[in-house]
Formats: sequence, C-alpha cells, structure tokens
Amino acid sequence: MRKNIAAGNWKMNLDLDAGKILASEVINMTADEVSNDAEVILIPPFVHITSVKQLAGSAKNVFVGAQNCSDKASGAFTGEISVEMLKSAGVDYIVVGHSERREIYGEDDALLASKTKAVLEGGLKPIFCCGEKLESREAEQHFAVNKEQIEKGLFGLSKEEILKVVIAYEPVWAIGTGVTASSDQAQEMHAYIRGLIAEQYDQETADSISILYGGSVKPDNAQELFAQPDVDGGLVGGASLKSRDFVDIIKSF
Ligand code: 13P
Repeated sequence: MRKNIAAGNWKMNLDLDAGKILASEVINMTADEVSNDAEVILIPPFVHITSVKQLAGSAKNVFVGAQNCSDKASGAFTGEISVEMLKSAGVDYIVVGHSERREIYGEDDALLASKTKAVLEGGLKPIFCCGEKLESREAEQHFAVNKEQIEKGLFGLSKEEILKVVIAYEPVWAIGTGVTASSDQAQEMHAYIRGLIAEQYDQETADSISILYGGSVKPDNAQELFAQPDVDGGLVGGASLKSRDFVDIIKSF
C-alpha cells in the first residue's frame, strides 16, 4: 500500500548553520512527537545534503532528498550534479520537474522524462512534479495540462519503474502565494491523476503510488488536505523552513 509522505523542499534558502539547526530540530521533534509511520523527506540545497544526512543518521522514517539533478551520468557539464553523486551523499529521493525548474530554467517534458529515467536507473526515487498555471485553471484546461505533463514525463516508464515514483501535484497558482487549493480541488486532481495511471498501467499500480499535494500547505490546512482519500501527503515549501510548522504538518496524517 502507498505511503504517507511529508516532504520539505527548502528551495534556495538557509545557509549551512541555519540548515543544520532546522534539520536537527525537525529530526528531534519527529522522533519525540510523531507516532505514525509517515515518511519525512528533508530536501535541502545540494551543499547541505551531506550535513543533513549525517544529522538524520539512522532516524526512523527520515530521508534526504535533492531538489534537482542532471540527466547525464558524468562529464563536461559544468555546474551540474549527477544522480550517482547524490546517491553517494546519501540521497534517497530527487525532485524532478518542479514548476520553478520548468518555468524559470526552461526544463521541458523531454528533459524531465530523461531526468526521471536517470534517477530510476541510479536506484533512487523521483518525486515528479506536475501542476497547472492560473490561466490554465481559469480556462478549464487544468486536467489537460496535468495529463500532458504526466504522459510525457512518466508514461515511458515500465510498471516496475513507475511504482518507485512519487507524484507531487503542485498547482502553480498555489505555490508561495498563501492560496491553497481547496481539499476538494486537490482530491479531484489527485483522483484524476490516479485514474490516468490506472488506465495506462493498472489499478493496483495506481493505488500503490503516493500522490502529494504542494502549494501553501500549512499546519492549519494540512489535516484537511491529508484526509482526502487520494492525497497521500504534502510537498511543503515555506512552512518546511520552520521546524514547529513542519512537524505540525507531519503530525497531520
Ligand atoms: P509553498 O509551500 O511555499 O507554497 O511551496 C510549495 C512548493 O513549491 C514545494 O515544492
């Protein structure tokens, strides 16, 4: 059965000292206060990964993720970081296709499919992001947009491969805006995405994949969002930078 996951995407925030403090607080509070079996994934900037991994040590259910990776294995790609490097630093999950990568850095569906494949071939798990912009939702194109992103990004994978993918639905209009999708809107899209996977693969596969919601998840809305049958957790930005808020979100399952 699929897992409940609370993932904290720190984005490009916090220097190393502040990152270590945040990670230790979350790890300690999680051990003390969280009794459920939800997975917690800390996703710091690349340069903090080794330190955060050391702090996480053998903490139960705490994993470390990366925000991006190259689709290439090695070589003359200045500024890029490979899956193998991330693996050797103790990373378990890699975010692929965050809307900030798609929008600001022009990452297209073909590149994201290639990155997803590279993550899986390296033995790690992709957190594959999809989500529509406000104009697409207003034009009632939101299902079509997410369908295209999922088809182009993921449907080249085998069943064994897609079973290792976590999907994050992050409507762009809800990211960093304080505007959250309603729990009904989130449930509707998550059920739709799960239906696409069932059509392409089969129902059992679709039921085994965790689909996270992202976009202004906070302690005061997490419980209602996570209570939806197809919402298996959250990919949290701003609120993951405050240990108390993030732990309260982890406790919302
Ligand atoms: P916020 O939680 O800050 O809206 O960010 C969401 C996000 O983009 C997580 O990847």
